[in-house]
Amino acid sequence: MTTLAIIGGTGLTQLSDLNILSREQLDTPYGSPSAEFVTGELNGSRIIFLTRHGNPHTIAPHQINYRANIWGLKQLGVEQIVAVAAVGGITGEMAPAHIAIPDQIIDYSYGRKHTFFEDEAVTHIDFTYPYNQKLRSRLISAASAANIKISPLGTYGCTQGPRLETAAEIRRMERDGCDLVGMTGMPEAALAKELDMAYAAISVVANWAAGKSEGEITMEEIERHLHKGMANTALLLKAFVS
Ligand code: HPA
Repeated sequence: MTTLAIIGGTGLTQLSDLNILSREQLDTPYGSPSAEFVTGELNGSRIIFLTRHGNPHTIAPHQINYRANIWGLKQLGVEQIVAVAAVGGITGEMAPAHIAIPDQIIDYSYGRKHTFFEDEAVTHIDFTYPYNQKLRSRLISAASAANIKISPLGTYGCTQGPRLETAAEIRRMERDGCDLVGMTGMPEAALAKELDMAYAAISVVANWAAGKSEGEITMEEIERHLHKGMANTALLLKAFVS
């Protein structure tokens, strides 16, 4: 049986439907992961859950130890990762509380420890398709089975944070072809690929990105939309594992 992990982001510190079986604190050659790895049953299927920002939510996107998180999951035998993350919506249907299963990434982050291949012969992984197509298809089918309207495609732009973007930065990202903006998609996706793990993402829109709506983006607005988006994400995940 393939071992599946779910990485939770902002708004998904815990999976409330998870029947917890065990918790494991791991140390890795890259330091400490964000939190304990929680093994449990979701809708009768065994999964491992990790909260990306720590529990409670204290680790900022640029301070997350992405290598320790992915390495830890690999040590636990994980072969597939579904990564949930809050995003800002840039284009058309990416409205607050909407869900997308992105198919492409543009990485604008910098200064993060972004590879496992540092002290050995240089390895250039293929990253043409950053997300695993089979996992993406299964997520899209699960959304359909659960009657949740999603966008089955989208380009995710990863910014450095923790501040949100300027309106001009978002206009540039739109010209580049980004539909979504988030802060945690990279290097997570590339690290999973370096360790040969299948990785796909569920992007949950928390707000219209900077300059895409009137006024400023507030935390209150983000929390309200995420609440709704994460409720649908929980349904999607349950359908996905069953
Ligand atoms: N920008 C970057 N990351 C985000 C946003 C945003 O507008 N909303 C939620 N995560």
